[in-house]
Amino acid sequence: MKPPKKPRLDRRDLLWIIPSMVTGGFFGWLAWRTYVIHFTKAGVQEPAWRAGPRLQVAALEELRSVWGFKYFDYLYAESPLKAVLIRLPQPVLGGLTVGERHFLALSRICTHQGCTVNFVDNPELGAIAYNYRTDHPFLGCPCHFGAYEPLQAGRAVYGPPRFPLPRLRLEEEGGVLYATGLEVPFRPLER
Ligand code: FES
Repeated sequence: MKPPKKPRLDRRDLLWIIPSMVTGGFFGWLAWRTYVIHFTKAGVQEPAWRAGPRLQVAALEELRSVWGFKYFDYLYAESPLKAVLIRLPQPVLGGLTVGERHFLALSRICTHQGCTVNFVDNPELGAIAYNYRTDHPFLGCPCHFGAYEPLQAGRAVYGPPRFPLPRLRLEEEGGVLYATGLEVPFRPLER
């Protein structure tokens, strides 16, 4: 008489199959996340502007030193857009140069899921909090620790965001900086 056929898998096999699947899934997720964080960031181009209201942002003298910054609200399409004006050490695409001084204005709405990004003026603390190491201030999102680089005109450089922060058009008149429009297209959030 033939011995009964052993099933291909029995319950004891689950003891190694399930942990293997969980471990494999975890490392797959880790690899995918590393790929997204490092290799899927969109570049920054010369902006196309959509005209908006003319808003006085700051007198030139308010940002006396490089890496000075000022938060402001830009009234666009009847809802205020949180934004930041930064004085930079060099010109960038979409920024404004007045004499020897270089400025950039960016939306503070994170392009990942819409949290408000902050100006991180201490790069050492920023490296601990955001895991993004640089020798100058940057913009960081507290929700999922995305980082944006002002010297690359607001490009996303670390974390889940893939798209740059939209820029605001700046103009200078009589020693005063004005925001006069917004970069288009305004990218949808990556929900
Ligand atoms: S909402 Fe900013 S990193 Fe997710």
